[in-house]
Amino acid sequence: MSTPILEVIEVYKYFKNVKAVDGISFSVNPGEFIALLGPNGAGKTTTVEMIEGIQKQNKGTINISGLNWAANESKLHQIISLSLQETRFIDKLTVNETVQLFASFYKLPRTRVDEVIEIVALQEKKKSYVENLSGGQRQKLALAIALLNKAPLLLLDEPTTGLDPTARREIWNILMSLKKSLNTSIILTTHYMEEAEYLCDRIIIMDKGKILAQGTLEELLSANNSKEIIEFATIDNISEQFFCGDGIYKLIWDENAFTGKLIVKSIIEQLPIFLQKIKENGIKLTKLECRKLTLDDLFISMTGKHLGD
Ligand SMILES: Nc1ncnc2c1ncn2[C@@H]1O[C@H](COP(=O)(O)OP(=O)(O)O)[C@@H](O)[C@H]1O
Ligand SMILES: [Mg+2]
Repeated sequence: MSTPILEVIEVYKYFKNVKAVDGISFSVNPGEFIALLGPNGAGKTTTVEMIEGIQKQNKGTINISGLNWAANESKLHQIISLSLQETRFIDKLTVNETVQLFASFYKLPRTRVDEVIEIVALQEKKKSYVENLSGGQRQKLALAIALLNKAPLLLLDEPTTGLDPTARREIWNILMSLKKSLNTSIILTTHYMEEAEYLCDRIIIMDKGKILAQGTLEELLSANNSKEIIEFATIDNISEQFFCGDGIYKLIWDENAFTGKLIVKSIIEQLPIFLQKIKENGIKLTKLECRKLTLDDLFISMTGKHLGD
């Protein structure tokens, strides 16, 4: 077992009456790609900012390569690289000049500037002013800057939020190829389950300052038993007791939308029983869909709301 690059132990951060981070613990191994997945206000930014040394926790320990911020500020700046949820660049600088400026902080050669611009595929925008970049191009620029000093721990706060699907896919491709080529640990925050599923080795699900679950996608979705979903809509009201019995874990019934989600052990086994009950009770279905459980389903079953809410 290698020593973790990051250890977060029983960390709390309170603002007046808000428990932004409410006693979380997790660790990250070298080379691991971790998602902090949760809706707005879950405490993701506060968590990464404490790791980055931008905010100080009220309680708890954060070790980065065994070091804490209080005593090792300059060393930690060499270990950590980051891109913030919203980065303000200087509008009247070009892409090239912006990356060059940050490279000069680290005393990096010109060649590194060209390298990172190439990694994020901004070559054609080198001479464009930052103010003329699209949202996706800005995120790429922020990523290029984060990559400059080849830090072993990279923190990316919502790298694709607000981007259109094409731009999001481009950022994913860049991150995916980084993952293959670098031995860098990455923590990225997101509220898109697809992003966490696609990119990350391990996913930490957060809500209201707490960690609700963590593990690989496989582990999260198969906790207890593998689960599948029968999703339906009807014009009739369904009572909670209607679907129960062996092999059924839970009915999530939305009484406003008249839609139900039945979490079952096996669709193959439960679908015939489900349809039989529907028929016997004269219930009219307007939609029926069978699928695997997703992280959003898991989140709903733990919190009663969607990840994107
Ligand atoms: N500087 C601050 N002052 C007061 N409340 C804050 C501050 N920063 C964050 N919060 C609150 O802490 C909670 C977590 O915020 P944040 O870490 O930004 O969540 P996320 O990044 O997951 O959306 C929210 O309820 C937010 O309003
Ligand atoms: Mg945030």
